[in-house]
Order: sequence, then structure tokens, then C-alpha cells
Amino acid sequence: MCGIVGYVGERAALPILLGSLQRIEYRGYDSCGILVQDNASGEVHLYKGLEPIASLIQNLDVSQFPGTIGIGHTRWATHGIPSKRNAHPHMDCKGEIAVVHNGIIENFQSLKDRFLSSCQFRSETDTEVIPHLIEKALMKAMKAHTHHKDFSPLSYSYSHSHSQSLTADEWLLKEAIRESLSYLAGSYAIIVAVKGFDGLIAARKESPLIIGLGDRENFIASDVPAVLEQTNRVIYLEEGDLAVVKKDRIYIENGAVEVTGRRGASMIPWTIEDAEKGGYEHFMLKEIHEEPKAIIDTLRGYLTEDGINLGIEIRSNIKILMVACGTSYYAALCGKYIIEHLAGIPVRVELASEFNYSDFVLGDDVTVIAITQSGETADTLTALKKAKRFGCRTVAITNVLGSSATRIADDTIYIRAGPEIGVAATKSFIAQLIILYLLGFYLAMKPEHEFEEWIEELKRMPQLAQMVLDDADAEIRQYARYLAGFEDVFFVGRGVNLPVAFEGALKLKEISYIHAEGYAAGELKHGPFALLTQDTPVVAILSGGSDGDSSIYEKTLGNIKEIKARGAPVIVITVKSDDEVEKYVDAVIHVPDTRDIFSPIPTTVALHLLAYWTARTRGCEIDKPRNLAKSVTVE
Ligand code: M6R
Repeated sequence: MCGIVGYVGERAALPILLGSLQRIEYRGYDSCGILVQDNASGEVHLYKGLEPIASLIQNLDVSQFPGTIGIGHTRWATHGIPSKRNAHPHMDCKGEIAVVHNGIIENFQSLKDRFLSSCQFRSETDTEVIPHLIEKALMKAMKAHTHHKDFSPLSYSYSHSHSQSLTADEWLLKEAIRESLSYLAGSYAIIVAVKGFDGLIAARKESPLIIGLGDRENFIASDVPAVLEQTNRVIYLEEGDLAVVKKDRIYIENGAVEVTGRRGASMIPWTIEDAEKGGYEHFMLKEIHEEPKAIIDTLRGYLTEDGINLGIEIRSNIKILMVACGTSYYAALCGKYIIEHLAGIPVRVELASEFNYSDFVLGDDVTVIAITQSGETADTLTALKKAKRFGCRTVAITNVLGSSATRIADDTIYIRAGPEIGVAATKSFIAQLIILYLLGFYLAMKPEHEFEEWIEELKRMPQLAQMVLDDADAEIRQYARYLAGFEDVFFVGRGVNLPVAFEGALKLKEISYIHAEGYAAGELKHGPFALLTQDTPVVAILSGGSDGDSSIYEKTLGNIKEIKARGAPVIVITVKSDDEVEKYVDAVIHVPDTRDIFSPIPTTVALHLLAYWTARTRGCEIDKPRNLAKSVTVE
């Protein structure tokens, strides 16, 4: 996830672009770049850096970056480490076509190999193929319509116009960009600046993009907060839209059809602060609502038509140890169930902080997988270093490109959840699970067709997560208001949903300050029963509903009845098709049916919402809970 902005008008572009970028820095902040075009002098000014936007605002001056057209980017690296050379904008060979991009181009490598082998690439990014493709398409178009040999954008003349709304030059440029986009697989929101052209071209596919409307000026951005200081009149571009944006004119088409008149402007009633959170009250809620997108982005690229490609080789006859902390540790525990279920390979899981200072002994035949959203958790980094001392192969599963974990581990698999601002890990946990499913399938080493139905089900996970957000939110809010009145809550589950119960309890205690404990459903009777009263509600995850082991369902239902018999209120999370359990409990949250091994996905979405709404009812500081930090960089 990155932030992109564009400006075309009569004012100096630099301060507007930097101000806009600062407003959407939360979308990505590992590096940034801007390009300002001065059409009066014909010069283009480019800056890329790793510093925060605030220091660019202090250090860059309009006198060095004159011009009234420009584009900017704040990056959350997905391909290529955060570095100046990987920062956007990226340019064609001649440095005349500049592109900022948010999204992932899945087929960039094959495009490079097949069509762009003669181009000089300067970065490791997927994005850089776009300006090169546009350069090629423009040259082809120019050759077709003129006899120019050398490419020089907009230095040609082309006699008849193809549109009422566009000049011949604009039409040709727009066509070249449209053709280039047709080669791309994946997702993108892009803004293109072309030397000598007095406008910008923007296009989107599966990534958001808006145009802010001004007076003899227009703004383009990946997100509303970027433009809100300048205007609250906004056009939301739709899937497949391509727009030619000039200071006093906008042309929008979809496919080959002009749709300018059909894209009305909306008035945005938000304050800037509201808008940064996409209208949500807290980043945590926004990030829970981004869980379906995090799944899509994480699957993208790893699950291809040719099968599962995690970008690393792992043998199936290995021993696996997973190390992690907090929520990532619970993902690892789920991973144990998932990999043992799908691949039949034993997996050991250790808390990184315990592994580091205990007498664990590892052989060099063990692959140690460290799971860490931030890639900076000190305990997990120490565990990785210890594993290396044992001679083990190490793999990091992380969200942050270039983070310390990626530098220590031999290999890295990225989860692609996008930046997570709320201290509570939400979408990153879901994305970690998705990688673990892929790893499970990969390690199973069975022919793809044997898993065809399973993989089809995995592809449904964004949809199932969305269904929970759409259909279960209202009832979850209601139960959250109820839970908010208690000081102790148990979460119980079995099998792959035991770690999910741990995660539900951690999330609740972390943000609502209610004491919460995750327990194996069958373990309460070995002690914690003594605590059960009408003041200790129990949230029970009822596994095994759809296709799972019916004995797990029966046993958990038995445990639930035992809990009820001791007077504790019970809220159950179960699949929609389960019409049995409601006879025995106080409340039921229904999630969509799926294979039992995938049930942690919809169940976790429900638990994240439950923790959020409970904390909100109690008026807690949700995004920054007391005493906690997003990255825990001390042991
Ligand atoms: O960045 P990491 O995944 O290594 O972080 C590990 C834990 O500190 C983290 O998951 C923590 O438990 C979360 N704030 C819980 O929501």
C-alpha cells in the first residue's frame, strides 16, 4: 500500500504535493519521491529520499523545484527494499515519462523478459515496467501516425481529433497508456506525467484513486485526505477508469467509452483527521475493514495459475520450528495446525522470548520460521540469530520490506497487509494466516489438482471476511455492549481455533483493559472452572461445524454445556448452518460456513470486531493502548 498524489494548476506544485503526501503518509512511509514539471522552461525536477515528508517540507524549496504540474509518492515497499533507487516516480529510458503507482504488478518479471529486455531498468520495483511500456506504446503510436523516428513526447503533430473532449495529442497519449495498461496483471492506481504535456493521466484497477476539483486546478490522489486541505469536491474514479486531467478540463473513459459525464463529484463532509482514517473512528476499525483486501493482496502473486510460488524453496522433508511473539505467536500456533493438517509435517512453535534463553537444542536440519509483522521485534530477531548459530536455515514471514528480520533471515516471505497503524495487530494476523495456508499447501507437495477444491476455498476467504463485516457487525456490537460491563472474560476453542481463542483474548485485554484469558475448551475443567460465575462470560469458538471433525464439534458443545451449568454466560461463534447450539447458550454470532481448517479467517474477523466494539463502549484509547508500542524493540 502506497500513497500517490498529483497536481495540475497554476500554483507552485511542490508545497501542494508535499502537503498532500504528508496527509497520506500513513499509507506507507519507508521512502518517498516527487517530480515537478516546469513547462515554461521545459525542465523536470526530481527528488527521491528515505526521510519523512516533514523533512522534505523543511528542506525542499520552490526555487529549486519550480513548476505547476507534479506527482508524488510515499512508499510501502512490496518489490525491492526501501531505497532511493526503488522510490517512485519511476521513469522510462529517456527520463520523459514518469509514473507513481500504488498496487502490485504481478507479471512484471515476464513483461521485462518478454517485451522490455532492451530497456535499462534502474530499480528492483514492479512499477518500473509501466513507464517503459508506455514509452514503447507511444513510440509505436507515433510511428503509426507520423514518421518521427525518435521518441519525444508531444513533439509530433497529428491532424484529426478522435474525440470532442481531447486534442489529438492527448488522444494519442491516452491511447498509448491504455494499451500499456492492458499488459498488466495485478492491481494499480497510477498517475503519469509526461515531459511537455500540460496535464496528468491517471488510471485505476483494484486500487483507489480520486480527483479533487479546484478552480483552474485539479488534484489526484489515492485517498481523500491528500486533497482535503485544497478542496472537498471529489470525483471517485471507478474500476477500469482512465482520466486525462488538465487544470481546467477532465476527460474520463472506461474501456474505450467516455464516461466523463457519469462521474459526478461528491462533497466530502469529513475533517482531515476523519479522512485519514477513511471515515472510521479509529485506525483499528479501518484496518479490520481492510482484512479482505489484505487477504487478496497476500494471495496475489503467491497463488498463480501455475500453482503456489512463495519465491523460496523449502523441502518437504524438513523439521520446522516457528518462533514469534504476541499475535504473531498465535498465527504460528495456527500454522502448526494448518501445516500438520495439510502437509502432515510436524511443526514446533516457541515463544521467541522463551526460545532465546532456554536450553533448546536444534539440529542444522531444522528450518526456523520467524513470524513478525513489523520485522523489528527484538525477541524475534534474537531468536533468528540464535537459530543461525545452530546452523539452521531461517525464514522470516513479515509485513515490512527491508526490516531487520529480512536482513537476518536467509529468506523472506512478505505478507503484504499494507501498513498497520493501530497498535493492535489485526489485518497482519489474517495475512500471516494466509501465508501459512499457502505454506501448508506448498509443503504438502501434492499435485495441484489434489488440492483444487481447497485452493478454491482459500480464494473465497476475502469474500467470507467481507460477509462477517457486512452481516455480523450489528449483532457483534450488541454483544460487545454486553461484554463491556464485565471485568473477566474467557475465550475457549479447540484445534485450529484454540490459537484463535488466544488471539480473541489478547485483543480484548489489549484494547479494552478487560482481563481476558484464552483456554483450550477441554482445559477449563482442570482448574479454571473454579472461577466461573455469572460474572465471567465465556466466548466459545465452536469448531468443526461445516466439514470438520464432528467429534470436535460434539466435544466443544459438551464443554459449552459444562460452562453453562456453572452459571457463566456463553456467547458462541459458530457457522451459519449450525442451528443446534443456540438451544444451549445465551448468544450466537454466526460466521459463514467454510472448511474447518479455514474457519480461523471468518472467526478472527468476528473476534477483532468484538474486541473493538467492546473497547469503544468502554471509551478506551483504542489505537494507542496504555503501556504498549507497535514495535517492541527491547527484549
Ligand atoms: O511485529 P510483531 O508481529 O513481531 O509483533 C509481535 C507482538 O508485539 C504483537 O503481535 C502484539 O502482540 C500486538 N500488538 C497484539 O495485537
